[in-house]
Amino acid sequence: MNIRDSVIQHFKAEFGKNPEYIVKAPGRVNLLGEHVDYNDGLVLPIAIDRATWLAYSLSGSQENHLIAKDLKQSCKFTGRSVKTKLTSDGKPLPSWAFYPAGVCWAAEERGLECPAIKGVYSSNIPRGSGLSSSASVEMAFVLAWQTLANWGLSPMERALLGQKAENQYVGVQSGIMDQFASACGEENAILVLDCRSLDWRTIPIPSNYAYIVADTMKSRRLSSGEYNKRRADCEEAIHLLSAHLPGLRSLRDVAPDTFNKLAGTLPERIEKRARHVVEEIERTFEAIPLLESGDLPAFGKLLNQGHVSLRDLYEVSIPELDIMVRLAQNIPGCLGARLTGAGFGGCTINIVEEKHASDFVSILAESYHTATGITPEIYLCHAATGASLD
Ligand code: GLA
Repeated sequence: MNIRDSVIQHFKAEFGKNPEYIVKAPGRVNLLGEHVDYNDGLVLPIAIDRATWLAYSLSGSQENHLIAKDLKQSCKFTGRSVKTKLTSDGKPLPSWAFYPAGVCWAAEERGLECPAIKGVYSSNIPRGSGLSSSASVEMAFVLAWQTLANWGLSPMERALLGQKAENQYVGVQSGIMDQFASACGEENAILVLDCRSLDWRTIPIPSNYAYIVADTMKSRRLSSGEYNKRRADCEEAIHLLSAHLPGLRSLRDVAPDTFNKLAGTLPERIEKRARHVVEEIERTFEAIPLLESGDLPAFGKLLNQGHVSLRDLYEVSIPELDIMVRLAQNIPGCLGARLTGAGFGGCTINIVEEKHASDFVSILAESYHTATGITPEIYLCHAATGASLD
């Protein structure tokens, strides 16, 4: 049974009626521009054909009643109890419920009404895989409440609400990329988002290539703590560089040449973090015309460089990601491979000539298994539409 049907069936079994609505919100894979969204850079994600489905109705009381089908857990909370991160009977909210509860909290902070719902949700985005399973949950709930309360928010405004939940309620100081991609995804398109102006557009996804995600099956560890540390290192770099560049607000405004001149003034770790950001932002600017002209061999090289930088400068890779990337880069037809998302585990993105795609998948699966003893999940991605009623 597909996931959509399974959440409907579960809803009926639990609540005795069909749900009034079903929403679907996709995950994303980022092609290039990693750890630059919170540095005002450009990102190039696509929304993928893996998603969270939420079946729901008004609850008819003050109380939200949610069932996380994949976790076999349920939770009840009210608009009042979420303020103190408690369930309606005064227990601490389970960690999975922070995402929907955070959305409810963020909406009420913005003065938006959040009528209580009963709902069942499930996802085929592996958790902790760097494919934005949590942003997709947030975007599903934002759309669910918007539909009931007629908020009238644009997809970008909905993304910003999800980011507020993630930053201020869940406690991860993430940028806007994941919620943006889940809210604004378009079929067959690469999204190009300027994280400073929030202007965005699309590039048709070049054909004759396969966009392949390979999951190391090592789910993200220590992510929020390490992620927040990376962000703090970037803040520190701006602070130190502003002694030489008065008024500097963001690493986006430091050209690579200028950075090279000032790099020696920074402590080693801060220099490495900032160098990654400055050069990765440069790579995304270089990448856009390559994608527009369909020069995927050149684009693939930028992916390979991006991985080295994430591994050696930003230090967010793990051995399994490095193995997966190295193996992939040696398989015929592979134009580029790198870790995608925050890092610390999760998936790689690989761009492969279409005629080699199926051999690539089997060779990579086998060689990764031989190298690590782990059976990976490897699949082709198709760019999908953003969160919608389904
Ligand atoms: C996570 C965050 C994003 C982004 C990426 C790294 O997915 O949620 O905002 O910073 O890491 O590019």
